[in-house]
Amino acid sequence: METVLSGIRSTGNLHLGNYFGAVKNFVKMQNEYNCFFFIADYHSLTTHPKPEDLHNNVKKVLAEYLAAGLDPEKSTIYIQSDVPEIPELYLLLNMNAYIGELERTTTFKEKIRTQPDNVNAGLLTYPVLMAADIIIHKANKVPVGKDQEQNLEMARKFAKRFNHMYNVDCFPEPSAFNFGKQLVKIPGLDGSGKMGKSEGNGIYLIDEPKVIRKKVMKAKTDSGPTQENQSKPEAIENLFTLMKVVSTNDTYEYFDEKYNKCEIRYGDLKKQLAEDIIKFNTPMREKIIDTLKNEEYLRKVANLGAQKARESASKTVKEVREIIGFKSF
Ligand code: TYM
Repeated sequence: METVLSGIRSTGNLHLGNYFGAVKNFVKMQNEYNCFFFIADYHSLTTHPKPEDLHNNVKKVLAEYLAAGLDPEKSTIYIQSDVPEIPELYLLLNMNAYIGELERTTTFKEKIRTQPDNVNAGLLTYPVLMAADIIIHKANKVPVGKDQEQNLEMARKFAKRFNHMYNVDCFPEPSAFNFGKQLVKIPGLDGSGKMGKSEGNGIYLIDEPKVIRKKVMKAKTDSGPTQENQSKPEAIENLFTLMKVVSTNDTYEYFDEKYNKCEIRYGDLKKQLAEDIIKFNTPMREKIIDTLKNEEYLRKVANLGAQKARESASKTVKEVREIIGFKSF
């Protein structure tokens, strides 16, 4: 059976981008594959979270995974920092990762631009840690959104390089996966390309109805189409993209037709979109709140996950150490 692995950084609650880009697929995959889903708390350190927030952030994502339908009996659900074999593999992979290729990654270049005061080495080697996360379980498939495509390419490169360097067939080449469809990119409603935690434009699964209404009503629009069937500018397309994932087909088509006939009223579209997001979120929101209260259950899930993940990870690290030439006296 093929192995699937994916993760989410614990820098805050899950937003609709995380859900539709990744988590929705996790839930579908756990019935068909050998699955590992984890919470990337080491990755969250690149932005220097306060010590008093770190554990709560992890707990929130764990509760959200469970509320979304991940089943700890079917998949291995764990916290990255519970598996010390991951930083060990990260260190080993770093020896064959080159500064030039790391500096050229789009996300690193973007970070230099957006946070010039905190361009740390963890950011530079972020894709190496991600590769370690993936190949430590010899994963074949990685369900991710479009924004992670380049990181996946790097993971493939590091896996191939290791195999080639030692002339072994240790790691499969992992590929980004979305059930054969194109990778998804959920936009922000502020006219920017992507909904994201760092972008500050997220609609979160945990958001209350009044917060959702406020965020959606504030979404950027324009003065409306002037010609029939004209193409939609980015901010409008973004509203429609979100509608496509949360609303029914009929609703989407109704507003699409109104747009094409130049009869659209953005206020109506936004009201409908907000109500559809609320309808989608509400059951999940209630479950998240319930799950968060159940500390005992969260502890059990995390401990079981750590045990299963370490079993798999330590096998790989043992094999890698032997390949590299480490021997015990
Ligand atoms: P993170 O936490 O930014 O995002 C988690 C997952 O959500 C997807 N995603 C989106 N998909 C579509 N549209 C969006 N607007 C959107 N925003 C986020 C991401 O593609 C991702 O699948 N580095 C990773 C975490 C990570 C990881 C890994 C993932 C660490 N190690 C190994 C896969 C495999 C990250 O920061 O994702």
